[in-house]
Amino acid sequence: MHMRNDNLSAPQAIYRKDYVAPGFWVDTVEMGLDLGLEQTYVATRMTLRRNPDSTEKDIVLFGDGLKTLQLRLNGVNLKKSQYSIQGETMRIPDAPDDVVLEIETLIQPVKNTALSGLYASAGNLITQCEAEGFRRITWFPDRPDVMAKYTVLLRADKKAFPVLLSNGNLIEEGDLGDGRHYAKWEDPFFKPSYLFAIVAGKLVCQEETFRLQDGRDALLQVWVEPGNLDKTDHAMQSLKKSIRWDEERFGLELDLDRFMIVATGDFNMGAMENKGLNIFNTKYVLANPSIATDIDYAGIESVVGHEYFHNWTGNRVTCRDWFQLSLKEGLTVFRDQEFSADLVGTATGRAVKRIEDVRVLRQVQFSEDAGPMAHPVRPDSFVEINNFYTVTIYEKGSEVVRMYYTLLGHDGFRKGMDLYFARHDGQAVECDDFRAAMADAGGRDLTQFERWYSQAGTPRVHASAVYNADEKTYALTLTQSCPATPGQAEKLPFHIPVTVGLLGADGRDLPLHTDGAQAGQTSVVLELTEASQTFVFRDVAEEPVPSLLRNFSAPVVLHFDYSDAQLAHLLAHDSDPFNRWEAGQRLATRRLVKLTQAVQAGEALALDEMFLEALRNTLNDTTLDPAFRELVLTLPSELVIAEEFDEVDPQAIHTARQYARAAISDALRGDLLTAYENNLTPGAYSPDAEPAAKRALKNLALSYLADWPQQATFELALTQFDEAENMTDRLAALHALVNFKGDPKLKKAADKALAQFYKKFAKEALVVDKWFMLQAVAETTDVARVRELMQHPAFTLNNPNRARSLTFSFCNANPSQFHAPDGSGYALWAELVIALNKINPQVAARLARSMDRWKKYSPALQQKMKAALEKVAGTKKLSKDVAEVVTKALA
Ligand code: ARG
Ligand code: ZN
Repeated sequence: MHMRNDNLSAPQAIYRKDYVAPGFWVDTVEMGLDLGLEQTYVATRMTLRRNPDSTEKDIVLFGDGLKTLQLRLNGVNLKKSQYSIQGETMRIPDAPDDVVLEIETLIQPVKNTALSGLYASAGNLITQCEAEGFRRITWFPDRPDVMAKYTVLLRADKKAFPVLLSNGNLIEEGDLGDGRHYAKWEDPFFKPSYLFAIVAGKLVCQEETFRLQDGRDALLQVWVEPGNLDKTDHAMQSLKKSIRWDEERFGLELDLDRFMIVATGDFNMGAMENKGLNIFNTKYVLANPSIATDIDYAGIESVVGHEYFHNWTGNRVTCRDWFQLSLKEGLTVFRDQEFSADLVGTATGRAVKRIEDVRVLRQVQFSEDAGPMAHPVRPDSFVEINNFYTVTIYEKGSEVVRMYYTLLGHDGFRKGMDLYFARHDGQAVECDDFRAAMADAGGRDLTQFERWYSQAGTPRVHASAVYNADEKTYALTLTQSCPATPGQAEKLPFHIPVTVGLLGADGRDLPLHTDGAQAGQTSVVLELTEASQTFVFRDVAEEPVPSLLRNFSAPVVLHFDYSDAQLAHLLAHDSDPFNRWEAGQRLATRRLVKLTQAVQAGEALALDEMFLEALRNTLNDTTLDPAFRELVLTLPSELVIAEEFDEVDPQAIHTARQYARAAISDALRGDLLTAYENNLTPGAYSPDAEPAAKRALKNLALSYLADWPQQATFELALTQFDEAENMTDRLAALHALVNFKGDPKLKKAADKALAQFYKKFAKEALVVDKWFMLQAVAETTDVARVRELMQHPAFTLNNPNRARSLTFSFCNANPSQFHAPDGSGYALWAELVIALNKINPQVAARLARSMDRWKKYSPALQQKMKAALEKVAGTKKLSKDVAEVVTKALA
């Protein structure tokens, strides 16, 4: 029997409301794979059992791009008349209640450029099955609510594939005599097919046994390509910290005797939590001081944590269907954020992490939530699930989980988690089940809280206050609304926790007397549940400055009519470090908006002394964590400023922000030099928070100083570049050199540094990515220069990291050049999306998202953007992935 199934049908949405339980459960899966790069033969034997509770009567299997050799049901070959195939779906009607299905398929890993299913990477074989990659290996009820026990037998040539890995425990291995060998793996836990994984090839590992809290020893391994063993230590340390943290904070133990991490240079996303065999993008594993920056080190720690934490939140309790994706992703992001914050430990350290996370949320998620791809945390429909691994599902999902934490408190949240596992361990459940566990454990009615899952869009909260000096009352009125999003014109009020404090004239917190506040309390969580509510504070001795939405207690945009003086007061004194930073950002945003308008009107630009003084005071306040000072001194990004405008003018925003940077550099020159010199970190490199914070502030100072076009600052950057003993300092110096504003003669020296950097690191793929990215976002890099860089021998669209380093960085992070008035950036974008569509639909669809907000630009730009979108939309053989993104953008 020979048959192929190709999906040629038009993109069609599927709906959450159409969920039907599977007609059959799968109890066991036994797989045998004869591995080869050109061709891999897959034999699958599964036992199925009718689900009497389902309205679905057929056996329904999914397959994608498979060559099917054999289909046997209870030992008998299936005749063509006994099943039907439509698109990816095979239906077998009239099956008995207990079935053994035997299926043989052939797949071609080297031809799999989509990197979903089984694919080749540097001569090795790797799988990625989430969300729907398993169906590219064999026919299967490939949906997350079908959980089965897997046994996997791998056979392969010994020389080409000396290492053979799969989920769970290695139960047997041996020689097959003919230059081939085998390994048999058994995963003792029931799991959905998206957690299936195999890895085969030439890999080496760093390993260690680690004593778990319950006394068991677990074998931990980090597998990499030969030559990279000097870069695995940080990942291993991070893994051990993750295991310990989950034991201590949530009482959750590693449930396997063996836990493996594998790094591959070809990966669509960050990493994948396959049971016992996590597969990672090299970007989130490989590090040593000479190739990785402080940010890379922090990223590795959090992603290693994230994937490890999925073992409970995702694997032991999984999702009923993909609409529930945030059940595992939002919760696991919350857990990794808390992990990173706990590791730093200090209060400002936690706040620094919080600020960094909120910055991402605002810059990327708020924008998504205001565009054509806006969707609820629990979507109601999608065309391609891979398009829904979004900042809304992940980061907003995490904010939603954080609100339970804020509402229930530390211990209440932990009780909710315990109840969630007590109820649902081993099950595939819904977001509502998590909410119910939180409500029941906390004894709270969280019915209205459900709207955070069902309604898209970023809520607006308008605050206003009246102080009554005679009665000593302070009445705070909070009013909420939420803009319309696709398919959701009207929104109902959300249940919003708003953490509030009141500052006196001396900058100290006033004691709070209001409903729900205990004696001596200086922060209170107000619960806004109606469209508008007034909260009254009593015994307020003086008119306070309100500190609202402390620690960013809800993912909303908060308006309050602060005066500059009030903001400066908050920036100088708020006991909530998040709101100190926030006050500085508000001051800066106001000015950047005005400056942008001045640029557009051709007026003279100026920055006021009051603002500069506030920045100077923060910069020079050595009692503050350098990481915190670095965040306050960093101006809102061009993308964040853009959100303040109905019609975005990218060049004007850029000019305004650059002007502000130069003015800050000019006014604070001496202070910046001092900060530079006081934050040197001599001695051996450590990625720990303290030295990393110093480097961050020092390098921010350097980047400001480089806006001062003097030979002296150029020399400072050049010396740092030449003498750097770690990538953080080297890369920061190179950034400063490449973006230097001074004498054009210095450009030669900068070019030389760029060339040196490339030569030194040409063999380190992750560093070459940095080299491309740095140039992609440089302000002088225009479309023509990007095209030139695309001709560089090291550039390729076939590798996701490399494609992203140049093209995504340019389209998403260099707005003033990407939005060139002649539309050349959009033409480049269309070419790239079309080219990537043929290679890797998931990556193509990500790039397609760069055009999401096209309706926010001037009519002239809009027209060019629309033409580019239409060009892509009209392309033949468009993947579902890209089609969904451009169709929604054009709708
Ligand atoms: N579950 C993975 C994580 O968040 C992400 C995998 C997504 N992969 C995909 N192809 N959509 O850790
Ligand atoms: Zn995840």
